[in-house]
Amino acid sequence: MPDTPSRSDARVRRRPTPPSAAAARSDRRPSLEPRLTPDDRFFSHVVSSMRNGVIAVRRDGTIALMNNEGYRIFGLTPSATDLGRPFADVLSACPEIIRVLSGAFELSHLPNRAELRLKELDRVIGYTLSQVKDETAAPVGAVLFFKDLTQVEQLEERERLRDRLASLGEMAAGIAHELKNPLAGIEVMAGLLRRQGPDSAKLANAIVVEMLEFVRPVRLQVERTDLADVLQQSVTMAESKVPRRDVIVRTTVEAGLPMIEGDHHQLAQVFTNLVANAFEALDGTGRITISAATTAIEADPAFAGLHPATPAVLVEVADDGPGISADLTDRIFNPFFTTKVTGTGLGLAIVRKIVDAHDGRIDVSSTPDSGTRFRVTLPVTSTSGWFK
Ligand SMILES: Nc1ncnc2c1ncn2[C@@H]1O[C@H](COP(=O)(O)OP(=O)(O)OP(=O)(O)O)[C@@H](O)[C@H]1O
Ligand SMILES: [Mg+2]
Repeated sequence: MPDTPSRSDARVRRRPTPPSAAAARSDRRPSLEPRLTPDDRFFSHVVSSMRNGVIAVRRDGTIALMNNEGYRIFGLTPSATDLGRPFADVLSACPEIIRVLSGAFELSHLPNRAELRLKELDRVIGYTLSQVKDETAAPVGAVLFFKDLTQVEQLEERERLRDRLASLGEMAAGIAHELKNPLAGIEVMAGLLRRQGPDSAKLANAIVVEMLEFVRPVRLQVERTDLADVLQQSVTMAESKVPRRDVIVRTTVEAGLPMIEGDHHQLAQVFTNLVANAFEALDGTGRITISAATTAIEADPAFAGLHPATPAVLVEVADDGPGISADLTDRIFNPFFTTKVTGTGLGLAIVRKIVDAHDGRIDVSSTPDSGTRFRVTLPVTSTSGWFK
């Protein structure tokens, strides 16, 4: 490697220079830098040899350095004239990066490990954003370290596809099992179907719609989501699926509940399915209590003390219906598990898939005759789930 560093890395070697020297050269022309010390050269090589992308910007929004890996990930051609130019101009093809860098001085808490999809480049990066502080701790710039995760994401997607195919296999086995007996008495079935024509068609349609829903990969449209809105909408949607009759529904949302990063529409599907199940279990009389409050997801015990707990919201959907017997609770999330004549058994399988995609958790507790309680915990900020 030649001693002169690549131009894109030139700024890393800047040292405070006497005012006269600074005035003698343009601040924006790295090519006019004075001769490099061995230390400068070494640091310059460190940045250019990094296998991560690095971009540093100054407080005034101009680029101080960008290494070659950074240029590669952003699909740009390295150019020395980029140094000193506003990052918003140079990175105009990556609006997501412009947004992240613009927030560097506004956010009190910078993301330590976050992921971002660069839509136009169809690329996913993982990044860390830090402020550059001077000796008085005043922020003078920001630096973004990032890594191309596109391949990692493709691998994960393949893994998830394999899981889904395995589930599909289970389903197919379940369907075959269910079909075997009726096939023996196909004439009886045909007679039944003739009589129940429209209902059977409706059920078949519901099965196909829900099966597609289950098999399709979850792509979250993440936005700041108000769970109070989601819950209200879910009750209305559940009412349109299952008649509520005399069931009393009470929703309590903790004052000041934080907005969460999630997919409004898919979360509404989660709670619609839970409330619809409760309506079905109550069969016209009883009470559903829905509550949302702040909580925290404890770190993996292996890392206890190292990672702080993640802020989260806990939503509970409880009913005072017949409950679920202990031997069935393990199976209710399985695709096609249903105890209902016209159920498809995909409601809770879809619920679990969406909660997983949000990095959340779901569990159920039930006592026969005194009701069922589903607890959904959703992190306030979810990152890995964005790309599921
Ligand atoms: N609140 C509840 N109380 C009692 N049993 C429940 C409750 N929620 C779910 N279940 C049980 O779990 C099973 C699976 O629920 P799931 O929502 O996956 O399917 P389903 O409601 O039967 O059919 P669908 O696909 O139409 O939702 C139900 O058939 C029922 O036995
Ligand atoms: Mg259901």
